[in-house]
Amino acid sequence: MSFASSPLERIGVFTSGGDAPGMNAAVRAVVRTCLYYQKQSVGIFRGYDGMIAGDIKDLSSRSVSNIIQRGGTILKSARSLEFKTKEGRRQAYENLKSAGVDALVAIGGDGTFRGATLFSSEYDIPVVGIPGTIDNDLNGTDYTIGYDTAVNTAAQAIDKVRDTASSHNRLFFIEVMGRDSGQIALRASIAAGAEATMIPEQPMDIDELVRILESGAERKKSSSLVVVAEGGKPGRSIDIAREVNERFSYYDTKVTILGHLLRGGSPTVADRVLASRLGVAAVEGLLNNISGQMVGIVNNQIKFTPFGQATTQHDELEKEMLRIATILSV
Ligand code: F6P
Repeated sequence: MSFASSPLERIGVFTSGGDAPGMNAAVRAVVRTCLYYQKQSVGIFRGYDGMIAGDIKDLSSRSVSNIIQRGGTILKSARSLEFKTKEGRRQAYENLKSAGVDALVAIGGDGTFRGATLFSSEYDIPVVGIPGTIDNDLNGTDYTIGYDTAVNTAAQAIDKVRDTASSHNRLFFIEVMGRDSGQIALRASIAAGAEATMIPEQPMDIDELVRILESGAERKKSSSLVVVAEGGKPGRSIDIAREVNERFSYYDTKVTILGHLLRGGSPTVADRVLASRLGVAAVEGLLNNISGQMVGIVNNQIKFTPFGQATTQHDELEKEMLRIATILSV
């Protein structure tokens, strides 16, 4: 079947969950691919909340001009509690029907895809997902949209902390987001040459951390930086710093929590191109009768993965990256 002859006429697009740099590039790609295949794209604002409230408008090529380089999401985002209720989903479906939307592109992370799975099990509306989250914690894609930008932002921030840390002979704990994934922490840590990385996938006990820091101090290191993944417990670097400080006082100890800083900013080229490729593939997937799946890129090839598998926790952290971080952080 050719894409243009698909019975789908009006394709809704929305962003949901935590925003991620590159979401706008993905929205743009969805809108322009719809135009290419002579389909109408429809914007749903504020994620599932906007779907329930009927915050739905047709989009044109111009609606997405000048956004590829912008962080955040022009469609806005939300973490919807109401969509978790049957009544919320029923209202959302009615609004989509009255707006004539007959398929959806959902841009977000695991919460977004869990919502989409539930929705498409109850209502007959095809949904394809695009992975948009800084966390890089989805199966079925090498990278999620926003991850590269977040890691670059983290590395640049850590470089700046290094300047002040080495001027004052200080030990810094720098906490980065990632929910329960250590992917941002590990990559940023390698890129910024941190002395140690604390990630949930491979927990390090305080004794071992103190041993690493002592060995650096013996070699007269002028500063030490420890990158800490928030590990589902934002602020945990404060407790770790306190514990370390009780046993090791060679350096004056400070904590910097990067937090939401990692979610903002202009997307990197890698994120813009990833988002553009995935936006095109998502629309083509829908027109080709694919539904209930997330589109990703694995080994540079487009791949569709059922939502259920995509949201299974990423357990295989890149072991090689961990090995590299350990070898280089002497
Ligand atoms: O999933 C993206 C993310 O930024 C996580 O890294 C973080 O744990 C969470 O969202 C924070 O969510 P919120 O902005 O709702 O506090």
